[in-house]
Amino acid sequence: MALLASCQSNNDPTPTTTTSSSSSSSSSSGSTSGSSSGSTLLASVDLTATANAALKNSGGYIIVNSIVVARTAQNTYVAATQTCSHEPKKKVTFVNGEFFCSEHGARYSTTGVGLNSYGAKGLAVYTVTVNGNTLEIS
Ligand code: FES
Repeated sequence: MALLASCQSNNDPTPTTTTSSSSSSSSSSGSTSGSSSGSTLLASVDLTATANAALKNSGGYIIVNSIVVARTAQNTYVAATQTCSHEPKKKVTFVNGEFFCSEHGARYSTTGVGLNSYGAKGLAVYTVTVNGNTLEIS
């Protein structure tokens, strides 16, 4: 016991003289995410792209960045995670005006509320902003 007792006293190589200057400008780190002014853009969808043609029709949906983006009415869109809350399966689609997981049949409303026991935990939904011919999902 106590064999290493003398090894730890003066062995710290931490420099003590480098960080003495400006702490006023905090624009370089980018780690402050508390402001509510800017929301994170998770995906953008070009409605004119042929790959997104399903969104020309109500009830149509696409999947982008693991997000289910569906059209519910003219110029009205909803978006939710593709990952089911029952089990973490990426099986959520959009069927009959609601989000639906094909794995066991969980159903969620367009606002993410669970509509049956499999969907009881709800589904994370996102905000869709229509910006011309582009959908911005955040
Ligand atoms: S994993 Fe979606 S219903 Fe079970």
